[in-house]
Amino acid sequence: MAFVDSTRVVVADSFGGRLAVVDCVAGSKTAEYRLPIHNVRDMTVGNDERLYLTCQRLNPKGYADREDIHWGIFMENEILAVDVALLIGGAGQRALNPERIALGGPGEGAGDPEAVLVTPEKLVVTLAGTGELAIVERVGVRESRVATGGRPLDVIQDEVSNRVFVVNSLSDSVSIVDLNGNRLIDTISLGPSPPSGMVERGEAAFFSAKLSHESWMSCHSCHTDGHTNNGLADTLGDGDFGDAKRVPTLRGVWSTGPWAWNGSQHQLHGQIQKSLTSTLHAAEIGDELVTDLTAYVTKLERPPSVAVARGAGPHPTIEYQSREVFEAAGCSACHNGFTSYTTDDVFDVGLRDDHGNSRFNPPSLSGVSQRDRLFHDGRANSIEDVLIRFEHPKGAALSEAERKSLVEFLQAL
Ligand code: HEC
Ligand code: HEC
Repeated sequence: MAFVDSTRVVVADSFGGRLAVVDCVAGSKTAEYRLPIHNVRDMTVGNDERLYLTCQRLNPKGYADREDIHWGIFMENEILAVDVALLIGGAGQRALNPERIALGGPGEGAGDPEAVLVTPEKLVVTLAGTGELAIVERVGVRESRVATGGRPLDVIQDEVSNRVFVVNSLSDSVSIVDLNGNRLIDTISLGPSPPSGMVERGEAAFFSAKLSHESWMSCHSCHTDGHTNNGLADTLGDGDFGDAKRVPTLRGVWSTGPWAWNGSQHQLHGQIQKSLTSTLHAAEIGDELVTDLTAYVTKLERPPSVAVARGAGPHPTIEYQSREVFEAAGCSACHNGFTSYTTDDVFDVGLRDDHGNSRFNPPSLSGVSQRDRLFHDGRANSIEDVLIRFEHPKGAALSEAERKSLVEFLQAL
């Protein structure tokens, strides 16, 4: 969230690329944009009346191979500069025409830009995935880098000394960097770090872009904070290029096997090993790394429904009635309530990808109200869409009242 004038704030979606302008006096949303970016982690207004935001861009047409990763065709790390007047004026999406300031480049990716600071001369960004500070002095010229500590999440400036302070969340320290010479002056320890066990090491790996080919991305670049960036990525998960799949949430994923959309992975650690090899192209993949990552991912809790997250629990009577409809309509044959509303098999429900694959593992419906793209390629935009437009599963003959009950039921899961 960032104030763009005395009464208005811009709010960014934590996972995908939506922005909303909110009038705090009127108490209403005055504009909304859906940009082809994700992981907007920080925003700040510069003296030039532009909003600078850190973000990533995942190309659904790119391939997760070394070539596309190297050229920044698959995943980009960048700062976007948007004219504040256009933004609050509710300009159309195209008219916004933000300037893209690339971070990193071939040979040196800039995985997971996080906090951004705008000084009159420089743009300063923490790279949470590589443990560095990136300092942009001129657009079009590769930024300077200063190594900080593990997962730097925030940066503030002391204008008098022209120094910045960077907080390193995974090494419990603050780095002091001099902006006059772009160099590290000191590191202040915030106390001894506790010894790390499997989960902590797994967390560090999950957020590390250094594991990936040329440091372009981490697991978190797609599975934002263990959830999803809502994007489509061609990670070779189905063994073939050319069919980008929706990035699934990893929250509650321990209970939703088998894994991958086609259900081809029967062990969670096998899927994670595959993500390391064919998505990140990690150089060295030891057993310990896979075990640690699996331990961390297994700890990620299932997402609550939107209603529960907002403090409005499910309505018991509605829930009872709509559960009956869910059972009567045969949904639980594939989305079984005892196993996180999925089953361990694959089914053809009449949806095909470009390679003709039509057998998919039913996605868990726990927390389904948190998704605004559904099915393996995101072709549905809402639960209503799944049931009405796509008549899921396969031309199901449901009455309007039954569909309404089902939507209510799914929204409470
Ligand atoms: C470029 C985006 C991207 C990155 C980076 C990424 N993933 Fe994924 N992940 C995906 C996509 C897309 C799928 C679905 C692939 C399929 O089924 O074809 C997936 C599937 C998974 C699954 C299976 C989920 C399920 O419900 O079936 C797990 C577990 C997983 N990823 C873990 C990881 C881990 C751990 C990392 C880091 C080592 C990682 N991923 C990095 C995009 C990504
Ligand atoms: C024959 C097995 C089967 C039955 C029966 C079934 N589903 Fe599904 N469901 C699936 C599969 C497989 C997918 C994924 C299809 C895809 O993505 O191509 C899916 C996807 C969904 C999704 C989208 C979830 C997401 O994250 O993409 C929803 C919602 C859903 N089903 C609800 C229902 C409801 C409600 C019923 C009962 C009316 C039902 N399903 C019956 C197998 C089934």
